Order: sequence, then structure tokens, then C-alpha cells
Amino acid sequence: MSVHDGMKRLTAPDIYARKGGAKIVALTAYHAWSAKLADPHCDILLVGDSLGNVLYGFETTLPVTLDMMIMHGRAVVAASRRALVVVDMPFESYERSKEQAFSSAAQVMRETGCGAVKIEGGIHFGETIAFLTARGIPVMGHVGLTPQSIHTIGSFRAQGKEEAAALGASNEMGAIEADAAAVVAAGAFSIVMEAIVEPLAHHISKNTPVPTIGIGASAACDGQILVLEDMLGMTKRTARFVRRFAELGSEIDAGIAAYSAAVKNGTFPGRQNLYGVELLNFIGD
Ligand code: KIV
Repeated sequence: MSVHDGMKRLTAPDIYARKGGAKIVALTAYHAWSAKLADPHCDILLVGDSLGNVLYGFETTLPVTLDMMIMHGRAVVAASRRALVVVDMPFESYERSKEQAFSSAAQVMRETGCGAVKIEGGIHFGETIAFLTARGIPVMGHVGLTPQSIHTIGSFRAQGKEEAAALGASNEMGAIEADAAAVVAAGAFSIVMEAIVEPLAHHISKNTPVPTIGIGASAACDGQILVLEDMLGMTKRTARFVRRFAELGSEIDAGIAAYSAAVKNGTFPGRQNLYGVELLNFIGD
């Protein structure tokens, strides 16, 4: 457990212990300023690989590298004190083998000081997650819509319609529920459930022994996460599951437009923005 100025930072076991308790508040944070603002309000700050879309303008998260995640992870850990910082394992940093996953995750933990990593995928990564958790690396799972697999999924649509319709019809688990169960069996301390239709997300959350964190999933999840820039209204296109709690995009636009106008019409900088204005009379200008 890390202690900073007397404040105890939340750990993966603290989050695990919150199953069925007080709702877990999570947001993404990619940089120092947003981490500092979000930290007092959040239990988890996720350095999501969505930074590839939001900060770098990539079409998908696939071009995001381990080095990028480490740089942003370091900034978020340094600027926060209370929240558990979880860093996403980017595409191609963990899929090849469990040994590759351990070496990438260990580098992330060592170089950022974060408290856990997140891995997208279910049943196929059970062995990898078990390998990591047995070696001291707390892992958050991520099932449902997994954006690193966008080229095999085809589109960013909600997951699990057929599986939800089949709920109760047989004792066999559907694919998404089986993914969640495999991730839990492997030792994940928590699971992100992304874009999963309500009845299925509700069912999985109720039957999963670790905290579920929803994004476009049920309000019955143990916590919720959103991309900070989406919920602050800084991004143009947002999914149905996003609520915009502020409209900073239009505020920023208005601020920049006002600055541009002031530079052009010469009202900026004003006297109050200049150094040594009192010397003007002295030198007779
Ligand atoms: O990368 C990310 O921001 C995420 C969240 C959407 C859960 O994985």
C-alpha cells in the first residue's frame, strides 16, 4: 500500500472488497491535469488505450504502444494520490504468450508505479491472467465490446443480444458470461463490462463474485466508468451510453475564438499583461 502525505492510495484488494458495496467511481485519465482533477472524486483512474482515439486521433486503439501507455501512466500516477491507477495493456503487448504479457505488465508496473493493469479479452486470456496474478500483478478484466478486436467484431455495436435472449433457456453459459467467468477464475480483481445489453450485463454482474465496472452496461454493475473527455463534452461523437455532464468543448471553442479575436484586434495583450509598463513614461514613450 502506498502512502503519500498521509493519504492511503486505494489498492486492487480494496476495490475487490467493494463487491456489492458502495458504488465504484472510475474515469479515464491520460495526463497530469485530468488526473489531478479527477482523483479526489474517483476510486479508479484508468489510463485507457482509448487515449489513442481521444488524444492522438487514431481511428482505432491498435497503434497505441507500450511506451505511450508508460508515459501517460507515469503522469497519472504522479498527479494522483487516492485513486487506484490501472494502466491498459495495449494491443500486441500481451497476446503472444503469457511470458510476453508478464514482461510487458511488469515493465508497466515498474515504470509507472500503477497499482494494476487491464487486459481485454476473456476465455482465451484466462491462462495469461492467472500467470500474471500468481506473479504479483493485479489484473482487471475487460469483456463484451473489446475495442482492440474491432477488426474481428466488425463494429462498435452492443454485444450479447442473442445471449440475453437465451438466458434461462439452458444451463450453459453464453460466450460473454463464459468470458467473465474465465477472467474471474483466473484471478482478476474486477472486470470492465463494455457495451453489453442490459439483461445480460445485469445477470453477469449479479452472478460475478468480483466488482463489475460498467461502460454501456447495466446500472446493476458495482461501478461505472466513462472516458473523461466524453463526459465533459470535449469530444464530438459520443456513444449512447455516454452522459455529457458538462459542455467543455463549446467553452473551449468560445475561449479560443475570443483569444484569436483579441490578438487580431490588438486588445491582447493589454497593459495588465505587460512587464515594466511603468517604465514607459520614464523612457518618454
Ligand atoms: O481504453 C479505455 O478507455 C477503456 C474504457 C473504455 C473502459 O478501456
